[in-house]
Amino acid sequence: MNEETGVSTNTTGGGRSLFSGKMGFVLSAAASAIGLGNLWRFPYLAAKYGGGAFLIVYLLLVATFGFALMMAEVGLGRKTRLSTIGAYKSIRKKWAFVGVLASAVPFLITPYYAVIGGWVTKYTVSYFTTPADQIAQSGYFTSFITEVSPETFVYTFIFLAICIAVVAFGVKSGVEKSSKILMPVLIGMSVVITVVGCMQPGAAEGIAYFLIPDFSKISVEMVVAAMGQMFFSLSLAMGIMVTYGSYLRKEDNLEKSVRNIEVFDSLIAILAGFMIIPACFAVTGSGAGVAENAGPSLMFVVLPQIFSQFGPAANFMGAAFFLLVLFAAATSSISLLEACISIVSDGLKCSRGKSIVICSIFMFVVATVVNMGYNVWIGVDPEFVLFGIGQQGDHQILDFLDFLSNTIMMPIVALLTCIFVGWIIKPKAVIEEVEQEGVTMKAKKLFTVMIKYIAPVFTVAILIGYVLMAVGAINL
Ligand code: PHE
Repeated sequence: MNEETGVSTNTTGGGRSLFSGKMGFVLSAAASAIGLGNLWRFPYLAAKYGGGAFLIVYLLLVATFGFALMMAEVGLGRKTRLSTIGAYKSIRKKWAFVGVLASAVPFLITPYYAVIGGWVTKYTVSYFTTPADQIAQSGYFTSFITEVSPETFVYTFIFLAICIAVVAFGVKSGVEKSSKILMPVLIGMSVVITVVGCMQPGAAEGIAYFLIPDFSKISVEMVVAAMGQMFFSLSLAMGIMVTYGSYLRKEDNLEKSVRNIEVFDSLIAILAGFMIIPACFAVTGSGAGVAENAGPSLMFVVLPQIFSQFGPAANFMGAAFFLLVLFAAATSSISLLEACISIVSDGLKCSRGKSIVICSIFMFVVATVVNMGYNVWIGVDPEFVLFGIGQQGDHQILDFLDFLSNTIMMPIVALLTCIFVGWIIKPKAVIEEVEQEGVTMKAKKLFTVMIKYIAPVFTVAILIGYVLMAVGAINL
């Protein structure tokens, strides 16, 4: 076992380095899964799409569809001992295109992830340098992202540079191991912030909004959003889990590991919801407008107001919190970058070093363009609306990439994966992969029915419904 990389060098997997036991896999997968998706994206979507109703739809999807898809991906990886494209190709040559499609997704997500990572970096630095009350002022966030100045670009670059350095210098597993310590600290801090936030006047209404489902809020758009969030948060439908599965040992229990990751990831999302949604109600004074105004800025606007409640400790709280979020974001971003780098080096048959250079240039350029959507571009063309989505003049590129990956590409990749596993290689292939060395799979029926029928039919139905709704043919 190689201490430095955390990867065992025994070669029962046909020469491939393997994770050092189940914890190695659960840890790396959790480090990839837990990130801005849980802390930043989940709370704003839940606030936007009706609170409790969104939470229930989301959890249902994670426990069924998410479970089946993650089992399928990890199973495919361990069975073939190959990463995404190779895994599909080795089983059926014609299906390699699913791996190719999946591989495109991290290239769409990483650049905009880095922009948000840059915002987190900015807030971390600000809490060291600027009085907390000033950061809590309204307009602080907007002026930061919309000002035409090098600042937001510099922060995006710093975030990207940190992640690239970790990947380039091979300290990735050290970073992942530190999450064993830092994640519990982040959770502990989040609990403290949640308690303080929930004690603010007006917060009770927010707690009710997040917990009591109003089923009239369920719509096609909301279910599509919940599904996209499920893929994003669990790092599914982009081949990452196939690759991770390929490093798993035969004696590890896939099903248990998958359940652990899901439970962990969902608990952190729920905690983030409790941290941000009630505080949001308290800050706005009333629930009115929460759903309409909830968006990517939510975390950066609401939390500083809660931190300023800590009086003299406000700066310390803010700095510590954003530092931990930065860490969680970086571990996810590193797994995204790592995926891109291996895709490029396999695809172009070039060295890892060359691939790191190519991917870095791509990420810096695209992240700069995404960032320009908030500031430089608005000045050039204030009426611009990219492909008719998003609001006039702002957010367009980040929202567009987010939409393209989570709402279009990932459901398509997920659908194809279900068809591949459900009908081409058959669920039995994955079940047999799980049931080795005396392990029995508990949710065989759920897995089979989900992957063969429910998940594909559901995905097709929801996508058709969504398209019809978007073109105005129906109103659901
Ligand atoms: N799952 C990560 C998060 O919740 C984001 C991510 C997506 C990471 C895809 C890797 C791959 O933040």
